[in-house]
Amino acid sequence: TYVVNLVKSRKSFTVTPDKSLLDQLLEAGIAVDHSCCEGVCGTCQTRVLEGVPDHRDSILTAKEKAGNQCMMVCVSGCKSETLALDL
Ligand code: FES
Repeated sequence: TYVVNLVKSRKSFTVTPDKSLLDQLLEAGIAVDHSCCEGVCGTCQTRVLEGVPDHRDSILTAKEKAGNQCMMVCVSGCKSETLALDL
């Protein structure tokens, strides 16, 4: 588990491993555009402000993944204790 801080929405909550980050964002009332939910379309790309995403998508290049500036919230998780997103 980790804590996600939604900087624009001024919300934060604990993300549990049983559901995707995308699902938990939607349940929290955050309208995140999404389509494939499999990490292949790029629709759910979200800007990362702080934290280290655990990238599991097939879109970002290795360089982009290492840069930790954005992530696909439908499949990716987080390796740090907190994750701040531009949502
Ligand atoms: Fe397609 Fe996340 S919804 S990459």
